[in-house]
Amino acid sequence: MEKEIIALEEEFKQDSHSAITQQDLEALRIKYLGRKSALASLFTRLPTLSKEEKITFGRRLNVLKNQITAALEEKTKGARGSEAPVDLTFPSSDIQRGSLHVLTQVSLELCTIFEKLGFCVTEGTEIEDEWHNFTALNIPLEHPSRDAFDTFYLDIPEGSENCGKFLLRSHTSPSQIRIMHDSKPPLAVISPGRVYRPDQVDASHSFMFHQIEGFAVDTGITFAHLKGVLLHFAREFFSSDVNLRFRPHFFPFTEPSAEVDISCFACSGKRPQTTDQRPKQESQKCSVCKGKGWLEILGCGMIHPNVLTACGISAKKYKGFAFGMGVERPAMLKYGINDIRLFFENDIRFLEQF
Ligand code: PHE
Repeated sequence: MEKEIIALEEEFKQDSHSAITQQDLEALRIKYLGRKSALASLFTRLPTLSKEEKITFGRRLNVLKNQITAALEEKTKGARGSEAPVDLTFPSSDIQRGSLHVLTQVSLELCTIFEKLGFCVTEGTEIEDEWHNFTALNIPLEHPSRDAFDTFYLDIPEGSENCGKFLLRSHTSPSQIRIMHDSKPPLAVISPGRVYRPDQVDASHSFMFHQIEGFAVDTGITFAHLKGVLLHFAREFFSSDVNLRFRPHFFPFTEPSAEVDISCFACSGKRPQTTDQRPKQESQKCSVCKGKGWLEILGCGMIHPNVLTACGISAKKYKGFAFGMGVERPAMLKYGINDIRLFFENDIRFLEQF
């Protein structure tokens, strides 16, 4: 029996050397400590031995069993340590980070430019009433923009007295009214947000888009302040060498009013020098301004005295300027996006480029 015990010890030493994984160790445990193991069969032979041999080999076998058990336990601990513990909170290596929507980024960028000039940012409400969206803005009852073809009216009971029907605001200008009504000049405010118009959707129209309203009210505000603020904005946002062109226009809520163009930042409004007098092929024209040299970006003017009065501000004492611009158009111009629908389709391949 002594020889068999020594052989078993040797065999276990060798086997345990090459056992690494938990599975290997479990196989070893079955082989050496299981009910059908060589060790178990040596134990079953003990009763057939003499009294002294029983004591000697009984002790030898128990020592061997304890050694094997201890060795296996030791190895099992090591195996657990080497197989990296699973940490369910550990971030995966191919994790995809989300980012702000390109329109949110552009909106924030636009607001920041004005904030640095001292404007503060206040949001209006998307559901408005006729008084804030039209009447207080000096838009007469018969004005076509009040038509249901140009404004989404809500099918809910009228609001407070004299405020008319509820609607989805068709521009951010009602923010001017809310702010001027609630606070006293001096004011310099930027108000970004969504606006809604029942337009047919195509590459340049959407029934919902974003605008940024800006205005300032104080004593002694002039059109020169408006020009200075807008020129600074255009040079910060587009390019430091763009120029502005103010074209006379009409808005009921500003007088005088203008539409503002920036000189094309892609071709600087320059036409290629050539002696060829034949009309240019479409493909030869600047792809950004289509050869016009100017890009329309916003509407503006001096706040109409009727608007100040409607908000309880003395039109004799105070003057103000206001402007309103879309967010999609500057974003499209800046990033060369040619279809407004791309902003709202949520195609990840488009969104992740910004
Ligand atoms: N509300 C006008 C529009 O949506 C823009 C504008 C704002 C014009 C403020 C003048 C002053 O077209």
